[in-house]
Amino acid sequence: MIDMRNKAIKAFKKYSNRYDVADIKIKLKIDHTYRVAEIAGQIGVSVGADPDFAWLLGLLHDIGRFEQLTQYGTFKDAESVDHAELGADILFHDGLIGDFPEEFFVIPGADGGESERRKMAETAIRLHNKLTLSEGLDADTLLYCKVLRDADKTDIMRVLTEPPYDERNGRIIKCSGDGTEPPAREDVMRCVHEHRCVPKTFERTDFESLISQCCMCFELEYPVSRKIVRKQGYLDILMNLAVQNETMKQQLATLRSEMKQAWDYGRKP
Ligand SMILES: [Fe+2]
Repeated sequence: MIDMRNKAIKAFKKYSNRYDVADIKIKLKIDHTYRVAEIAGQIGVSVGADPDFAWLLGLLHDIGRFEQLTQYGTFKDAESVDHAELGADILFHDGLIGDFPEEFFVIPGADGGESERRKMAETAIRLHNKLTLSEGLDADTLLYCKVLRDADKTDIMRVLTEPPYDERNGRIIKCSGDGTEPPAREDVMRCVHEHRCVPKTFERTDFESLISQCCMCFELEYPVSRKIVRKQGYLDILMNLAVQNETMKQQLATLRSEMKQAWDYGRKP
């Protein structure tokens, strides 16, 4: 199995090398990709999914980011293109998937399983960044969608917390800065109380973005994903950010207490 993963990494490198890998933003995505692949593999083992297939989904999920950044100069989907759709198009319409080992798609004992798995991969990649999953997915597709989404969320906490502080995580510095950032508005805090992600359409301040990122952890599907996030410690860093404003301090305290409730007792219905 190591061999097919190595072949897939080789194909991924061949593709990503077409872009400026010296660019810090490209490097950030490459590092994120490998981590999400590893985490997806780990979650896959724990939830009874095929860990190699889950790992491959992690490796492929953000492939659209390179073209997005090159064409539009930003990772913000709202200002450019839906990177998940773009990545799935590059892989499954333009045929990049053909460079990755066929073995990943073979389901032991299932005739024609390869095309089934290919479809599953396409769906999981298209849906990895959506606020909610579409209705009517079959059980296996749903499983892999959830594994990938959990793995991605898990590593996003790291991206936000670790340097370099660029357009994605510079808000950490701003929010803990001179106290000029305003507190989060009621709509955002309502999502905290309701234990759900903040809709992307909601235009956010930097502090609201930070809270929104933490809210993603309310929607982690699997206990193993929560365990990974706990162990990493990045969510704790975000929720304990040293803000100056009293209301913001209180909002972070609320967030911590809601997260504790959500993780100890499950999500609110
Ligand atoms: Fe993504």
